[in-house]
Amino acid sequence: MKIKSVNQRDFGRLENMEFSNSDIENIVDDELLINVHCCGISFADILAAEGKYQDTPPLPFTPGLEVSGVVESVGSAVKGFNIGDEVIALSKWGGFSEKVKVKESFAINKLKGMSFDIAACMTINYGTSYYALVERAKIKENDKVLILGASGGIGLSAIEISKALGCHVTAMASSKDKLSVCKDYGADELVLTKEDNLKKSLMEFKGSKFDIIYDTIGGLYTNDSLSFINWEGKLLIMGFASGDISSIPTNKILLKGCDIIGVFWGPFARGNKYFNLNSLKGVSDLFNKGLIRFSKPKMFHISDFLSAMKEIKDRKSVGKLCLYTDSFKRR
Ligand SMILES: NC(=O)c1ccc[n+]([C@@H]2O[C@H](COP(=O)([O-])OP(=O)(O)OC[C@H]3O[C@@H](n4cnc5c(N)ncnc54)[C@H](OP(=O)(O)O)[C@@H]3O)[C@@H](O)[C@H]2O)c1
Repeated sequence: MKIKSVNQRDFGRLENMEFSNSDIENIVDDELLINVHCCGISFADILAAEGKYQDTPPLPFTPGLEVSGVVESVGSAVKGFNIGDEVIALSKWGGFSEKVKVKESFAINKLKGMSFDIAACMTINYGTSYYALVERAKIKENDKVLILGASGGIGLSAIEISKALGCHVTAMASSKDKLSVCKDYGADELVLTKEDNLKKSLMEFKGSKFDIIYDTIGGLYTNDSLSFINWEGKLLIMGFASGDISSIPTNKILLKGCDIIGVFWGPFARGNKYFNLNSLKGVSDLFNKGLIRFSKPKMFHISDFLSAMKEIKDRKSVGKLCLYTDSFKRR
Protein backbone atom coordinates (compact mmCIF):
# COMPACT_ATOMS: atom_id res chain seq x y z
CA MET A 1 0.00 0.00 0.00
CA LYS A 2 1.28 3.49 -0.87
CA ILE A 3 1.47 6.01 1.96
CA LYS A 4 3.37 9.21 2.76
CA SER A 5 5.91 9.23 5.54
CA VAL A 6 9.07 10.96 6.73
CA ASN A 7 12.02 9.01 5.34
CA GLN A 8 15.64 9.15 6.38
CA ARG A 9 17.86 7.58 3.73
CA ASP A 10 21.25 8.71 5.05
CA PHE A 11 22.21 9.28 8.68
CA GLY A 12 23.87 12.55 9.59
CA ARG A 13 21.83 15.66 8.88
CA LEU A 14 18.16 16.13 9.68
CA GLU A 15 17.93 17.75 6.22
CA ASN A 16 18.56 14.31 4.68
CA MET A 17 14.98 13.43 5.58
CA GLU A 18 11.99 14.03 3.34
CA PHE A 19 8.23 13.64 3.53
CA SER A 20 7.68 11.35 0.55
CA ASN A 21 5.87 8.32 -0.83
CA SER A 22 6.71 4.95 0.60
CA ASP A 23 5.23 1.47 0.78
CA ILE A 24 3.78 -0.24 3.81
CA GLU A 25 3.57 -4.02 3.83
CA ASN A 26 0.30 -5.80 4.54
CA ILE A 27 -0.37 -6.59 8.19
CA VAL A 28 -0.18 -10.16 9.39
CA ASP A 29 -1.25 -12.21 12.44
CA ASP A 30 -1.28 -10.05 15.57
CA GLU A 31 -0.65 -6.71 13.84
CA LEU A 32 -2.83 -3.61 13.64
CA LEU A 33 -2.71 -1.01 10.91
CA ILE A 34 -3.22 2.39 12.51
CA ASN A 35 -4.38 5.45 10.64
CA VAL A 36 -2.03 7.85 12.45
CA HIS A 37 -3.59 11.08 13.72
CA CYS A 38 -0.70 12.39 15.83
CA CYS A 39 2.86 11.38 16.62
CA GLY A 40 4.91 12.77 19.51
CA ILE A 41 8.44 13.91 18.66
CA SER A 42 11.12 12.68 21.05
CA PHE A 43 14.71 13.72 21.52
CA ALA A 44 15.49 10.13 20.51
CA ASP A 45 14.02 10.79 17.03
CA ILE A 46 16.59 13.51 16.46
CA LEU A 47 19.47 11.41 17.77
CA ALA A 48 18.36 8.42 15.68
CA ALA A 49 17.99 10.49 12.50
CA GLU A 50 21.54 11.69 13.05
CA GLY A 51 22.72 8.12 13.66
CA LYS A 52 23.67 8.92 17.29
CA TYR A 53 21.00 7.07 19.27
CA GLN A 54 21.98 4.15 21.49
CA ASP A 55 19.45 2.01 19.61
CA THR A 56 19.74 3.46 16.10
CA PRO A 57 17.65 1.56 13.53
CA PRO A 58 18.94 0.46 10.11
CA LEU A 59 18.33 2.63 7.01
CA PRO A 60 16.00 3.56 5.41
CA PHE A 61 14.24 4.67 8.50
CA THR A 62 11.12 6.57 9.55
CA PRO A 63 11.29 8.24 13.00
CA GLY A 64 8.40 8.20 15.46
CA LEU A 65 8.00 6.17 18.63
CA GLU A 66 4.54 7.06 19.94
CA VAL A 67 1.32 7.57 18.01
CA SER A 68 -2.38 8.03 18.47
CA GLY A 69 -4.88 7.13 15.78
CA VAL A 70 -7.68 4.87 14.64
CA VAL A 71 -7.39 1.15 13.87
CA GLU A 72 -7.86 0.72 10.13
CA SER A 73 -7.40 -3.03 9.83
CA VAL A 74 -6.58 -5.97 12.08
CA GLY A 75 -4.57 -9.15 11.50
CA SER A 76 -6.23 -12.56 11.66
CA ALA A 77 -4.89 -13.29 15.19
CA VAL A 78 -5.84 -9.94 16.78
CA LYS A 79 -8.12 -10.44 19.79
CA GLY A 80 -8.34 -7.12 21.63
CA PHE A 81 -9.08 -4.50 18.95
CA ASN A 82 -11.60 -3.80 16.23
CA ILE A 83 -11.60 -1.57 13.19
CA GLY A 84 -12.47 1.98 14.29
CA ASP A 85 -10.97 1.74 17.81
CA GLU A 86 -9.15 4.87 18.96
CA VAL A 87 -5.73 3.82 20.24
CA ILE A 88 -2.35 4.89 21.54
CA ALA A 89 0.62 2.79 20.42
CA LEU A 90 4.37 2.48 20.87
CA SER A 91 5.61 2.23 17.32
CA LYS A 92 9.36 1.60 17.80
CA TRP A 93 10.01 3.93 14.84
CA GLY A 94 7.73 4.46 11.86
CA GLY A 95 5.30 6.86 13.56
CA PHE A 96 6.08 9.93 11.39
CA SER A 97 3.74 8.53 8.81
CA GLU A 98 0.14 8.50 7.63
CA LYS A 99 -0.13 4.86 8.69
CA VAL A 100 1.89 2.54 10.89
CA LYS A 101 1.84 -1.17 11.70
CA VAL A 102 2.20 -2.28 15.33
CA LYS A 103 1.70 -5.53 17.21
CA GLU A 104 -1.53 -5.40 19.18
CA SER A 105 0.46 -5.94 22.39
CA PHE A 106 2.00 -2.47 21.92
CA ALA A 107 -1.34 -0.67 21.63
CA ILE A 108 -3.85 0.41 24.26
CA ASN A 109 -7.23 2.07 24.03
CA LYS A 110 -7.09 5.86 24.22
CA LEU A 111 -8.72 7.26 27.36
CA LYS A 112 -12.22 8.54 26.58
CA GLY A 113 -12.26 12.32 26.37
CA MET A 114 -8.53 12.58 25.79
CA SER A 115 -7.60 14.41 22.59
CA PHE A 116 -5.44 12.66 20.00
CA ASP A 117 -2.61 15.21 20.37
CA ILE A 118 -2.28 14.75 24.12
CA ALA A 119 -2.75 10.99 23.74
CA ALA A 120 0.20 10.75 21.36
CA CYS A 121 2.43 12.86 23.58
CA MET A 122 1.80 11.64 27.12
CA THR A 123 3.07 8.09 26.72
CA ILE A 124 6.84 8.49 26.67
CA ASN A 125 7.16 11.66 28.77
CA TYR A 126 4.73 10.83 31.54
CA GLY A 127 5.44 7.10 31.41
CA THR A 128 9.16 7.75 31.76
CA SER A 129 8.84 10.24 34.60
CA TYR A 130 6.42 8.08 36.55
CA TYR A 131 8.64 5.04 36.14
CA ALA A 132 11.73 7.05 37.16
CA LEU A 133 10.29 8.91 40.14
CA VAL A 134 7.81 6.42 41.55
CA GLU A 135 9.07 2.98 40.60
CA ARG A 136 12.84 3.59 40.65
CA ALA A 137 13.48 6.52 43.01
CA LYS A 138 10.57 5.64 45.36
CA ILE A 139 9.65 9.32 45.66
CA LYS A 140 7.96 10.32 48.95
CA GLU A 141 5.79 13.24 50.02
CA ASN A 142 7.87 16.33 50.93
CA ASP A 143 10.92 15.14 49.02
CA LYS A 144 12.96 17.97 47.54
CA VAL A 145 13.29 17.38 43.80
CA LEU A 146 15.68 19.22 41.45
CA ILE A 147 14.81 18.92 37.74
CA LEU A 148 17.45 19.78 35.11
CA GLY A 149 16.10 20.62 31.65
CA ALA A 150 12.79 21.22 33.42
CA SER A 151 11.00 22.99 30.56
CA GLY A 152 11.67 20.13 28.13
CA GLY A 153 9.29 17.30 27.31
CA ILE A 154 10.19 14.92 30.12
CA GLY A 155 11.08 17.83 32.44
CA LEU A 156 7.53 19.23 32.53
CA SER A 157 6.08 15.79 33.17
CA ALA A 158 8.53 15.33 36.07
CA ILE A 159 7.37 18.64 37.57
CA GLU A 160 3.71 17.65 37.33
CA ILE A 161 4.19 14.15 38.77
CA SER A 162 6.44 15.34 41.64
CA LYS A 163 3.95 18.06 42.58
CA ALA A 164 1.03 15.62 42.34
CA LEU A 165 2.86 13.46 44.90
CA GLY A 166 3.34 16.33 47.35
CA CYS A 167 6.99 17.19 46.74
CA HIS A 168 8.86 20.48 46.64
CA VAL A 169 10.15 21.10 43.11
CA THR A 170 13.09 23.23 41.96
CA ALA A 171 13.14 23.68 38.17
CA MET A 172 16.19 24.71 36.20
CA ALA A 173 16.03 26.12 32.64
CA SER A 174 18.00 28.44 30.38
CA SER A 175 15.55 31.34 29.91
CA LYS A 176 12.97 33.28 31.87
CA ASP A 177 10.28 32.26 29.37
CA LYS A 178 11.12 28.59 29.86
CA LEU A 179 11.05 29.08 33.63
CA SER A 180 7.63 30.73 33.53
CA VAL A 181 6.28 27.60 31.82
CA CYS A 182 7.84 25.50 34.62
CA LYS A 183 6.05 27.70 37.15
CA ASP A 184 2.78 27.25 35.27
CA TYR A 185 3.21 23.46 35.64
CA GLY A 186 3.71 23.84 39.41
CA ALA A 187 7.44 24.32 40.12
CA ASP A 188 8.04 25.97 43.52
CA GLU A 189 11.53 27.38 42.90
CA LEU A 190 12.97 28.54 39.58
CA VAL A 191 16.68 28.56 38.75
CA LEU A 192 18.00 30.27 35.64
CA THR A 193 20.90 28.38 34.02
CA LYS A 194 24.01 30.52 34.02
CA GLU A 195 26.72 29.79 31.43
CA ASP A 196 25.60 26.17 31.27
CA ASN A 197 27.16 25.70 34.68
CA LEU A 198 25.11 24.03 37.37
CA LYS A 199 27.29 25.19 40.27
CA LYS A 200 27.14 28.84 39.17
CA SER A 201 23.43 28.58 38.53
CA LEU A 202 22.71 27.17 41.97
CA MET A 203 25.05 29.63 43.78
CA GLU A 204 22.17 31.51 45.43
CA PHE A 205 20.80 28.16 46.54
CA LYS A 206 24.06 27.36 48.35
CA GLY A 207 23.36 24.94 51.14
CA SER A 208 20.29 23.54 49.36
CA LYS A 209 20.29 19.80 49.13
CA PHE A 210 17.92 17.64 47.13
CA ASP A 211 16.53 14.18 47.81
CA ILE A 212 16.07 13.48 44.11
CA ILE A 213 17.92 15.02 41.17
CA TYR A 214 16.33 14.37 37.77
CA ASP A 215 19.12 14.84 35.21
CA THR A 216 18.11 15.06 31.54
CA ILE A 217 21.25 16.91 30.44
CA GLY A 218 24.32 14.84 31.35
CA GLY A 219 27.96 15.88 31.01
CA LEU A 220 29.32 18.26 33.63
CA TYR A 221 25.79 18.83 34.97
CA THR A 222 25.76 15.26 36.25
CA ASN A 223 29.10 15.55 38.06
CA ASP A 224 28.26 18.93 39.55
CA SER A 225 24.81 17.88 40.67
CA LEU A 226 26.37 15.44 43.16
CA SER A 227 27.45 18.46 45.24
CA PHE A 228 23.77 19.23 45.81
CA ILE A 229 22.46 15.79 46.66
CA ASN A 230 21.26 14.90 50.14
CA TRP A 231 22.65 12.03 52.17
CA GLU A 232 21.03 8.88 50.74
CA GLY A 233 19.62 10.99 47.90
CA LYS A 234 18.95 9.65 44.40
CA LEU A 235 20.40 10.89 41.14
CA LEU A 236 18.30 9.80 38.18
CA ILE A 237 20.24 9.52 34.91
CA MET A 238 17.49 10.35 32.41
CA GLY A 239 19.32 11.47 29.28
CA PHE A 240 22.10 13.43 27.66
CA ALA A 241 20.55 16.48 26.00
CA SER A 242 23.95 18.22 26.17
CA GLY A 243 25.44 15.47 24.01
CA ASP A 244 28.00 14.69 26.75
CA ILE A 245 28.16 11.67 29.01
CA SER A 246 29.75 12.20 32.39
CA SER A 247 32.39 10.14 34.19
CA ILE A 248 31.32 10.28 37.80
CA PRO A 249 34.00 10.14 40.54
CA THR A 250 32.91 7.20 42.65
CA ASN A 251 34.30 8.72 45.87
CA LYS A 252 31.52 11.33 45.66
CA ILE A 253 28.92 8.58 45.55
CA LEU A 254 30.40 7.04 48.69
CA LEU A 255 30.73 10.35 50.53
CA LYS A 256 27.11 11.25 49.78
CA GLY A 257 25.84 7.74 50.46
CA CYS A 258 23.66 8.29 47.40
CA ASP A 259 22.18 6.09 44.68
CA ILE A 260 22.71 6.71 40.99
CA ILE A 261 19.89 5.21 38.98
CA GLY A 262 19.90 4.67 35.22
CA VAL A 263 16.45 5.01 33.70
CA PHE A 264 15.59 3.66 30.25
CA TRP A 265 11.82 3.56 29.88
CA GLY A 266 11.59 2.13 26.35
CA PRO A 267 12.85 -1.39 27.11
CA PHE A 268 10.91 -1.38 30.40
CA ALA A 269 7.69 -0.31 28.68
CA ARG A 270 8.05 -2.81 25.85
CA GLY A 271 8.89 -5.63 28.24
CA ASN A 272 9.87 -8.68 26.31
CA LYS A 273 6.83 -8.93 24.13
CA TYR A 274 4.08 -6.75 25.55
CA PHE A 275 3.40 -3.13 26.52
CA ASN A 276 4.15 -2.78 30.25
CA LEU A 277 1.30 -0.65 31.46
CA ASN A 278 2.38 -0.07 35.08
CA SER A 279 3.60 3.45 34.68
CA LEU A 280 0.79 4.49 32.33
CA LYS A 281 -1.79 3.16 34.79
CA GLY A 282 -0.16 5.24 37.54
CA VAL A 283 -0.17 8.32 35.36
CA SER A 284 -3.80 7.77 34.32
CA ASP A 285 -4.80 7.53 38.01
CA LEU A 286 -3.17 10.88 38.75
CA PHE A 287 -4.93 12.36 35.70
CA ASN A 288 -8.33 10.94 36.70
CA LYS A 289 -7.91 12.42 40.20
CA GLY A 290 -7.22 15.82 38.62
CA LEU A 291 -3.67 15.91 40.01
CA ILE A 292 -1.96 16.28 36.63
CA ARG A 293 -3.25 17.80 33.42
CA PHE A 294 -0.73 16.60 30.75
CA SER A 295 1.16 19.30 28.90
CA LYS A 296 -0.43 20.44 25.64
CA PRO A 297 2.03 19.88 22.75
CA LYS A 298 2.97 22.42 20.11
CA MET A 299 1.55 21.12 16.82
CA PHE A 300 3.18 20.86 13.36
CA HIS A 301 1.72 19.30 10.20
CA ILE A 302 3.72 16.18 9.33
CA SER A 303 5.02 17.84 6.14
CA ASP A 304 6.64 20.49 8.39
CA PHE A 305 8.51 17.87 10.47
CA LEU A 306 11.88 19.52 9.86
CA SER A 307 10.90 22.82 11.54
CA ALA A 308 9.74 20.87 14.59
CA MET A 309 12.85 18.70 14.80
CA LYS A 310 15.14 21.70 14.38
CA GLU A 311 13.32 23.55 17.16
CA ILE A 312 14.21 20.71 19.52
CA LYS A 313 17.75 20.35 18.23
CA ASP A 314 18.38 24.11 18.53
CA ARG A 315 17.17 24.09 22.14
CA LYS A 316 14.28 26.41 21.31
CA SER A 317 11.40 24.10 22.13
CA VAL A 318 9.35 24.24 25.31
CA GLY A 319 7.50 21.10 26.39
CA LYS A 320 6.54 18.51 23.84
CA LEU A 321 6.22 18.94 20.05
CA CYS A 322 3.80 16.85 18.01
CA LEU A 323 3.15 16.06 14.34
CA TYR A 324 -0.38 15.69 12.99
CA THR A 325 -1.67 14.20 9.75
CA ASP A 326 -4.56 15.20 7.49
CA SER A 327 -6.74 12.62 9.27
CA PHE A 328 -6.36 14.61 12.51
CA LYS A 329 -7.10 17.88 10.68
CA ARG A 330 -10.31 16.45 9.20
CA ARG A 331 -11.80 15.40 12.59
N1 LIG B 1 15.55 7.63 29.96
C1 LIG B 1 14.51 7.54 29.18
O1 LIG B 1 13.83 6.53 29.12
C2 LIG B 1 14.17 8.76 28.38
C3 LIG B 1 12.86 9.01 27.93
C4 LIG B 1 12.60 10.20 27.24
C5 LIG B 1 13.65 11.09 26.99
N2 LIG B 1 14.90 10.79 27.43
C6 LIG B 1 16.06 11.69 27.22
O2 LIG B 1 15.91 12.82 28.06
C7 LIG B 1 16.53 13.95 27.46
C8 LIG B 1 15.51 15.07 27.38
O3 LIG B 1 14.43 14.69 26.55
P1 LIG B 1 13.24 15.71 26.24
O4 LIG B 1 12.27 15.01 25.38
O5 LIG B 1 12.78 16.33 27.48
O6 LIG B 1 14.02 16.78 25.34
P2 LIG B 1 13.72 18.33 25.17
O7 LIG B 1 12.27 18.58 25.20
O8 LIG B 1 14.49 18.80 24.01
O9 LIG B 1 14.33 18.97 26.51
C9 LIG B 1 15.69 18.86 26.83
C10 LIG B 1 16.13 20.08 27.62
O10 LIG B 1 17.55 19.97 27.77
C11 LIG B 1 18.13 21.25 27.67
N3 LIG B 1 19.19 21.20 26.65
C12 LIG B 1 19.05 20.97 25.34
N4 LIG B 1 20.25 21.03 24.71
C13 LIG B 1 21.14 21.32 25.67
C14 LIG B 1 22.55 21.51 25.65
N5 LIG B 1 23.26 21.42 24.52
N6 LIG B 1 23.17 21.76 26.81
C15 LIG B 1 22.47 21.85 27.95
N7 LIG B 1 21.11 21.70 28.01
C16 LIG B 1 20.47 21.42 26.89
C17 LIG B 1 17.06 22.25 27.24
O11 LIG B 1 16.70 23.02 28.39
P3 LIG B 1 17.43 24.39 28.75
O12 LIG B 1 17.66 25.14 27.47
O13 LIG B 1 16.46 25.04 29.64
O14 LIG B 1 18.70 23.98 29.44
C18 LIG B 1 15.87 21.37 26.87
O15 LIG B 1 14.65 21.93 27.30
C19 LIG B 1 17.03 13.47 26.08
O16 LIG B 1 18.40 13.13 26.19
C20 LIG B 1 16.18 12.24 25.82
O17 LIG B 1 16.83 11.32 24.94
C21 LIG B 1 15.16 9.66 28.11
